[in-house]
Amino acid sequence: MTYQETYRTYQSEIERYLAGLFLNQEDYHVLQDAMRYSLLAGGKRVRPVLTLAFSTLFGGQWRQAVPFACALELVHTYSLIHDDLPAMDNDDLRRGKPTCHKVYGEATAILAGDALQPEAFGILAGAEGLSHRQRVEAVAALAAACGGNGMVAGQILDLEGKTGGEEALRRLHSLKTGALIRCAAALGCIAADASPEQKNAAASYAENLGLAFQIRDDMLDELADERELGKPTGSDQRDGKCTFLTLLGAERCQELVRQYTNAAKAAVSGYPGCEFLLSLAEQMAERRV
Ligand code: IPE
Ligand code: IPE
Ligand code: MG
Ligand code: MG
Ligand code: MG
Repeated sequence: MTYQETYRTYQSEIERYLAGLFLNQEDYHVLQDAMRYSLLAGGKRVRPVLTLAFSTLFGGQWRQAVPFACALELVHTYSLIHDDLPAMDNDDLRRGKPTCHKVYGEATAILAGDALQPEAFGILAGAEGLSHRQRVEAVAALAAACGGNGMVAGQILDLEGKTGGEEALRRLHSLKTGALIRCAAALGCIAADASPEQKNAAASYAENLGLAFQIRDDMLDELADERELGKPTGSDQRDGKCTFLTLLGAERCQELVRQYTNAAKAAVSGYPGCEFLLSLAEQMAERRV
């Protein structure tokens, strides 16, 4: 299968699984509607795809890893709903649609994010076909990645805006964006019962991919077309954010994206079947969305 075919195969299973969630029609279904609105708005699904790709690379049955992959996408989606709130980045457009709080109001958007988090852990805990040990490992990995020393720590550093230099910004990115991307790879490894050496390779791939990914995100915030990107451009500048682009300029950013992309590829290039992950890193380096 080509890279695109593999990506689409993974993606369609992810969409199918997500589309089956939160369908209840209780009298409080506005909550589920808001959760589904953001969840099914059509993101790239790069994190869950990474989970499935690492599961495949290390000999797992990727279909069994779909719940792990989708649990992470729930947490990612909650992080975007809250990131867009007026108290945070105050953005009106996400995944090509009005943001959750624009449609459902701020309180419901906060609650939709709140509910997505424990639902994610419930999915990990109940993942069929995986052992209790694997499920507990997955719960611990996601808790660490999205908690107070993970993604949320990155978000507070981002909002405080006191990033010093390149090193401080790299740390911020590594928490804000890297933590969930590393977790995506780790969940794939857990589902495949990967060896410690394989887990290290996956962590190194994901750390470098995550840095390239967020530098590219910072670049797109200023350089992309809003309609193509599906989220507002110029938000970082409006909010006075210190980003890789403001710190180093577009040319140096491009060099860094290349450097981190190469490092990501090198981390897995010794493993048979790594071609998909090599192409994924290249695609992310060039992405316009
Ligand atoms: C956006 O993530 C937030 C960042 C960490 C940069 P994505 O670019 O993966 O957003 P979706 O999921 O495709 O909408
Ligand atoms: C958000 O980073 C990362 C998380 C939601 C954890 P950004 O604020 O740069 O993401 P976008 O640009 O709004 O997607
Ligand atoms: Mg933000
Ligand atoms: Mg934002
Ligand atoms: Mg951004």
